[in-house]
Amino acid sequence: MSMRKKIGGDLDGPLRGERSGTLRRRSRRSNGGWSGTFLRASAAGTILTVALATALPAFAQSPTYGVGRVPTQEEFKAWDIAIGPDGKELPPGSGTAKAGKAVYDAKCAVCHGPTGKEGPQDVLVGGQESLNTPKPLKTVGSYWPHATTLWDFTNRAMPFNAPGSLTPDEVYAATAYVLYLNGIVGENDVIDARTLPQVKMPNKDAFVPDPRPDVGKGAKAAKK
Ligand code: HEC
Repeated sequence: MSMRKKIGGDLDGPLRGERSGTLRRRSRRSNGGWSGTFLRASAAGTILTVALATALPAFAQSPTYGVGRVPTQEEFKAWDIAIGPDGKELPPGSGTAKAGKAVYDAKCAVCHGPTGKEGPQDVLVGGQESLNTPKPLKTVGSYWPHATTLWDFTNRAMPFNAPGSLTPDEVYAATAYVLYLNGIVGENDVIDARTLPQVKMPNKDAFVPDPRPDVGKGAKAAKK
């Protein structure tokens, strides 16, 4: 089912599309401009849609001015790297905490500390007993509900000074190591696309699904 969404005043026409990765041309405008968009029907949809709303004008600007173009499938694929909570987009590859120590020591420790607790940047480890106290320490181990998010965030945003530079195996290994430092997985547990989504984060049950229904024309289609 097609969905439509208008994004701000940046685009003259209705934006249409299907799931991410299939940005399609739909309507040729009389002045020669193309307009298009996508909506993603998944838990990560909101984030992606918002992200795209920011990114889109660079690709498909107002037909009034006749600038911009639809991204190629290749360009779109390079950009469309989000991993949702269920991890179904996780790529092949694997890693253990044991292998991850080398990655972490070389590429993460300088900012997050030798054991993830020291900083100077975000503390990644510890705090599991602190959440119900007046001074909660929110770390990957104490706070995050999904282990898959750790893979996704590390893959897209870390190391902070060279995001996107890690191979999938390095991301799996670094993820395993951060989970290991938090006492969540064992040193030799193989973390891959199958096992990572099964990792139960300590604070998972403290998160509840948002009960509010989606609204608008896309709401029905967005439901799985
Ligand atoms: C050059 C410094 C630097 C390096 C190197 C670095 N990080 Fe980070 N990291 C940061 C900063 C700064 C933030 C906060 C980013 C933000 O809030 O947008 C962060 C945030 C994070 C977070 C999110 C923490 C939270 O609770 O929100 C994780 C997880 C993380 N880094 C993992 C890693 C891993 C794994 C590596 C190594 C592969 C790494 N980082 C390397 C600077 C760094």
